[in-house]
Order: sequence, then C-alpha cells, then structure tokens
Amino acid sequence: METMEEKLRVLAEKDRVALLGGGEARIKRQHDAGKLTARERIDLLVDPGTFQEIDRFVVHRCTDFGMADQKFPGDGVVTGTGRIDGRLVYLFSQDFTVFGGSLSREYARKICKIMDQAVKVGAPVIGLNDSGGARIQEGVESLGGYADIFLRNVTTSGVVPQISAILGPCAGGAVYSPAITDFVFMVEGAYMFVTGPEVVKTVTHEEVGMEDLGGAMTHNVKSGVAQFAAPDEASCLAGIRELLSYLPSNNLETPPFKETGDPPDRPTEAIVDLVPTNPNLPYDIKDAIREIADDHEFLEVHEHFAGNIVVGFIRLNGRSVGVVANQPAVLAGCLDIDSSVKGARFVRFCDAFNIPLLTLEDVPGFLPGTDQEWRGIIRNGAKLLYAFAEATVPKVTVIMRKSYGGAYCVMASKHIRADYNFALPTAEVAVMGPEGAVNIIFRQQLARSDDPDAERAELVADYRRRFANPYKAAELGFIDEILHPTNLRRRLCAAFDVLENKQDDVPRRKHGNIPL
Ligand code: HXC
Repeated sequence: METMEEKLRVLAEKDRVALLGGGEARIKRQHDAGKLTARERIDLLVDPGTFQEIDRFVVHRCTDFGMADQKFPGDGVVTGTGRIDGRLVYLFSQDFTVFGGSLSREYARKICKIMDQAVKVGAPVIGLNDSGGARIQEGVESLGGYADIFLRNVTTSGVVPQISAILGPCAGGAVYSPAITDFVFMVEGAYMFVTGPEVVKTVTHEEVGMEDLGGAMTHNVKSGVAQFAAPDEASCLAGIRELLSYLPSNNLETPPFKETGDPPDRPTEAIVDLVPTNPNLPYDIKDAIREIADDHEFLEVHEHFAGNIVVGFIRLNGRSVGVVANQPAVLAGCLDIDSSVKGARFVRFCDAFNIPLLTLEDVPGFLPGTDQEWRGIIRNGAKLLYAFAEATVPKVTVIMRKSYGGAYCVMASKHIRADYNFALPTAEVAVMGPEGAVNIIFRQQLARSDDPDAERAELVADYRRRFANPYKAAELGFIDEILHPTNLRRRLCAAFDVLENKQDDVPRRKHGNIPL
C-alpha cells in the first residue's frame, strides 16, 4: 500500500504538470507572442493568494483524430473563484497553450459549472477569452458546449454581472458568449469576428494610438461590441477591477459604498462658466460630470463609440450612480441610432443592478436625415425611451441647456417617472429651437412682411423669451426645481439620499417587448 508521503508526491506531480497547461514550449510561444498565460492573467486579476481552482484534472473524452493520446489536465481552461477587493468572483481563463484554447465538451462543462454556482451564490462571472474557437476534433459536441454556455449567459443576465475580456482570438460563433455579457474589454492585438478577418477593414484610432483589424478599436469605435479598450493585458485586468468597484455582486444587492473625503455640499463652481448661454456653443459634458462626482472620478463606459452620448459610473456621497449625458461637443449632442442603443443598454444594466441613474440633458433633438430614417432611428430611438421609462431605480434628471422635442420626453422626463427633474437657469425646454419654430408658425406672416429678416429676429427673440427657458415647465411641475449651478452636487447628493429606499414596480408579465 502507498504511504501518505507517496500519495502526496503523486498529487504534487499531477499539480506540477497541470500548472504547465500545454507545456513549457507552448508557454514560451505564448510569451513570445506578447501574451500572458491563463494563470498569469488570473494572478493579475484577483487579490493575491485568493484564487481557488476547481476541475484542475478534467480532461477531454475525444478519441477521434488521435486525441486519445493527447490529454492535458484542465483541458484548456482554468476555472474557479477569487476575490477582487475582497469580494467574491467566479472566473474562467482560456488557456491558449492547450489546443489553442479551443473549446471541447468538457471545457464547456467546466465553464457552465462555475456559471451555475455563481448564480446560486450571487457573484459576478468574469471570462478571460483567448481561444481558437470550437475544438475541431470534437465537432458537434463542441458546438453543443458553446450553446450550453450561451444559454447560461442569457439566464444569468440581470442576475449577476458578467464581464468578458478578449485577450487573443475570439472567432466564429464563440463571439456570442462575450456579446451577451454586460461588458466587453479588448486588449490591443486581440480580435473578434464572425465571418473572417478578410471582411474587416483596418480601423485607426489616433487618440488612443491603436490600429487594428477586427480588434480592439474596430469593436470599440465602429461596431460597439466592446465597451473598453486597453493597450496591454495588465491595464485591461486592472480595468475590470475598477469597474467591479461600482457594481453590486448580484441583482439583490446595492452597489458597494465607498467612503469619500469629498464633501457632498462642495460647490460646483466650474459649472457656472462651463455651460454657455449661447445655445450654439459646444462644451464638454464630461467636465460637468467630473465636477459633480466624488473626487472628480468618472469611469466612462463605451468611451470610443457614439460620442454624442456619454455613459459611465461616478459616485455621489459614496454611492454608485450611472450617468447618461448628452454630449454637446459631438454632433451638438443630437440623438442618433448608435447613441440611442448605447444609452439604452447602459440604462437597462443599471436598472437590473440597482444602480441609480443621473441624466444630464442637453439635446437639440434626433439627428435628421435619410440615412438615420432608413436605418431606423424610430425603432432605435424608441429603445432609449423604452429603457428610461422601464427603469425603476432612482432617476434624477438635470436639464443643463437644450431640451427640445421628442428628446425632452425621452431623456428621463418627469412623465416617464423620473423622481427628480431639475434644470439649470440655462435650460431651454421647447418643442424645437426658436429659429425653427418661428419659421413654421409665422411662415405666412413672414412671407407677407416687408422686412422678413428683421421681423424674424424679433419673433425669435420673443419666442426665446417666452419658451426658451425652464420656467414654463416649472410652472407645470414638469421640473421640480431650478438650481444655481454651484448647488448642483449638493442637490444631487441630497436627492439620491432621499431616494435610497425607493420602491417601484412594473405590472406582472413575462417580459415587455422592447423594440429590438
Ligand atoms: C483544435 C486548434 C484550434 C481549434 C487552434 N488549434 N485552433 N485545435 N481546434 N479550433 C491548435 C492548433 O492546431 C495548434 O496546435 C495550436 O492550437 C495553436 O494554434 P496555431 O494555429 O499554431 O496558433 P496561431 O498561429 O496563433 O493561430 C491562432 C488561430 C488559428 C488564428 C486561432 O489557430 C486558427 O485559425 N484556428 C482555427 C480557428 C477556427 O477556425 N476555429 C473554429 C471557428 S468556428 P499545435 O499542436 O500545432 O501547436 C467556431 C464555431 C463556434 O468556433 C460556434 C459556436 C456556436
């Protein structure tokens, strides 16, 4: 009979082999390609010493194509739990050194196992992707494995946060798992495509100094598939840690509170000069967001896509808040198809995870034009309206300046059950801008006029005096309060304090039918 010492030696040897994944030569190839191994990535992601692996010795069952003789413990994916800032996470990390990280039936089963447990325990799932896709030797067993994961991505959605990092290839149908998750990070050099790299054009993004084919900038700038781009793996993994600091672990929790030395009543002086009274002048709404936020910190989400709307996380008096803001510096802040979809997805994420919403509004309306109409600005703009109306988390809106037309209704107006609707004195709430309005309602009068330009100027000035302000809306109670810009942070902190225990609901139903 073996002694305990001998049994421990066997275990140690099995562990040693398993920790090497596909072996030293393939680890070297991974490093030479500028990539970390699956285990090195986990070490960077979680708090030191907290990773607890399961299924280290799982192997595939394939016997075709000589596979019976080629088995690597773990079979190409490392799974388990860890802690991030002390909080539990479930994770899987695909190991490219084993059959190119390709997905077998057993590999898929490992991922499903941690996803199932994560839902029961109520902890986020993080997937680190680096894979050649379906394990070709396994055929439909591999495809079935993907579908098993996709199902869990869907049933887990809105229960615990799901985060994907793309750190190498992610091709074919495999992309649909990350696509269903809540946030996708991409590192420079990684790529995603369904049909092949030859159909993807190179995208250059000078601001971030990255250019690629089907990679980080393609999906951050053009397709909108990814919400974050990182120049290297370490900053990508650090980004995941930062994002999690704003999120609750599941849909039954509130987001973590973070102490701040930033007083809730700090005057927001910078807003006074930031918002121009001339409605034609642009400004950067991100300056306003940072001025309001605790410690001026803003984690922007989807930074490189549809810049005419800005979304991301701040804290107010220690609490996480999701911000949705029109950006007057891009397309004058008009809503178009991409910005509507970007905003809607973010609003729905916040609503699913009890993160209150702050809407900063400065919008001249929907972007006009045949292109937008043909591609469905009606159907897509409706998504943002639907998402805001559906959301039952605390909702606070500030009209910074323009609030024209349908966009007034859409951007978390009182009518779609926002809790507090504030306006700055610079707000202009109207069916449309003064020039457009005058040209329509006084068309006949102007046509008869001896001096139409002078008369138009007069009528515009009169319209502006009467409607291009927040007072009519305040008289009707559509706006609760008109704020001095320096009081903005104080008032917002107080509003979210009041709303802390807000309860609201929708009628019982299977689910609504958002116009997808
Ligand atoms: C089995 C695979 C594999 C796969 C790679 N390998 N992909 N083994 N199934 N899908 C193996 C290679 O044979 C090689 O083994 C090792 O992994 C490393 O691969 P390389 O090709 O040497 O690496 P690299 O040059 O970096 O190229 C990476 C790659 C390429 C671009 C990912 O391997 C590739 O094109 N693979 C096939 C991709 C693919 O078509 N997958 C199926 C997509 S369809 P050795 O022993 O030689 O080192 C799909 C459907 C999913 O995924 C559907 C879900 C619904």
